[in-house]
Amino acid sequence: SANTMWGGRFAAGPDAIMEAINASIRYDRRLAPQDIAGSRAHAAMLAATGIITDNDAETIREGLLTVLSEIEAGDFPFSAALEDIHMNVEARLKDMIGEPAGRLHTARSRNDQVAVDFRLWVRDQCDQADAALAGLQKALLEQAEAGADWVMPGFTHLQTAQPVTWGHHMLAYVEMFARDRSRFADARKRMNLSPLGAAALAGTSFPIDRHMTAEALGFDGPAHNSLDAVSDRDFALEYLAAASICAMHLSRIAEELVIWSSAQFRFVKMSDKWSTGSSIMPQKRNPDAAELIRAKIGRIFGANVALMTVMKGLPLTYSKDMQEDKEQTFDAADNLMLALAAMTGMVSDMTANRDALKTAAASGFSTATDLADWLVRELGLPFREAHHVTGTLVALAEGKGCDLPDLTLDDMQSVHDAIRADVFDVLGVENSVASRTSYGGTAPAQVRDQIARWKEVIE
Ligand code: ARG
Repeated sequence: SANTMWGGRFAAGPDAIMEAINASIRYDRRLAPQDIAGSRAHAAMLAATGIITDNDAETIREGLLTVLSEIEAGDFPFSAALEDIHMNVEARLKDMIGEPAGRLHTARSRNDQVAVDFRLWVRDQCDQADAALAGLQKALLEQAEAGADWVMPGFTHLQTAQPVTWGHHMLAYVEMFARDRSRFADARKRMNLSPLGAAALAGTSFPIDRHMTAEALGFDGPAHNSLDAVSDRDFALEYLAAASICAMHLSRIAEELVIWSSAQFRFVKMSDKWSTGSSIMPQKRNPDAAELIRAKIGRIFGANVALMTVMKGLPLTYSKDMQEDKEQTFDAADNLMLALAAMTGMVSDMTANRDALKTAAASGFSTATDLADWLVRELGLPFREAHHVTGTLVALAEGKGCDLPDLTLDDMQSVHDAIRADVFDVLGVENSVASRTSYGGTAPAQVRDQIARWKEVIE
């Protein structure tokens, strides 16, 4: 049969395959709360401006609340023939309240309706990501506080570079996730204009009040150009871009946890809650959650690229292409939230192996830079010469199969005769980290200052 919404112009209904490719209700049903909030704001405004009667507005309001409770209770009769959430809700409203339901769509189109629904949904995701990121930062801060002065190797090229502190390493991630939070907040600010009332594309001849609906829905005001309002999906793209960068950060920490929990590193022990065993190798404790976080990130990047590709080259204003904005964004958001929750759990429950960290920190000639700095400071050598002398001493130690602190004073003096016994003071890893007191450096005193600063920032 012909469609009940626009059947006037049609003699026959759609082909079954047409319905399959056209319907979005399978996934856009999650927009029901936003759709109903948008409709409630619109109906109240239509009454306030005298476009519909107060009686009709009240009947619509009550009907919408009943529809919402049906959906929340899980007994709403979703229909693919009705295409999407907007038509499903309106058709159900008509079943329940009759004629006034037909007045709700005055001065509105599905084009501004879907734009407002989706914007509200993405805005909420920005808030949820922010809250989850704050939780992850807290978990990292707790780790940082517990091991503010625990030494571990710092790496470049994944080769031992200089000793750092565990607290300092944890705080590096706190910084990264803070930038993510500010990206979501920034995107949220820019997206917070209401497209409702743009109607199909050109605005409307009805005396609507777009400021009123914008305010009712928590927007800063109405979007200023009706063509842009219905054809813009930048808000979803900015969310996905922020989500992609956040996901990239998550995959970096996930990668470190995979490496650190290996038998070769033993820097951390993941709790049983976040590990899996092997069906054949009884000794195994696999960091599956970290690996899955590392992998899920691909879907988030994918959603970002997919929506950019959907939008590129679309003429103004709405094209049905834009219905493809939602499914990918939903998937990306679900996986981002899952990854954030899993990472927060793993970080909270993991135990750093202080001894293994320290042993590793002291290996690999990690204090060679401290030795070179000592030669500069104490003997007045130019840094380049000090670098050469130290390199020679590293080669000497490597030849003897020992580390720098194991060399004798004679060994040292065979390379540079002015070296004194107090050089050994700077070769210890604790002294090394304690000396790096420059602002933002790894010294425990600096780390504690930063922890205190973060505690104030993260309420
Ligand atoms: N389901 C559609 C979407 O998600 C709603 C807008 C439909 N508008 C239209 N002119 N066909 O984009």
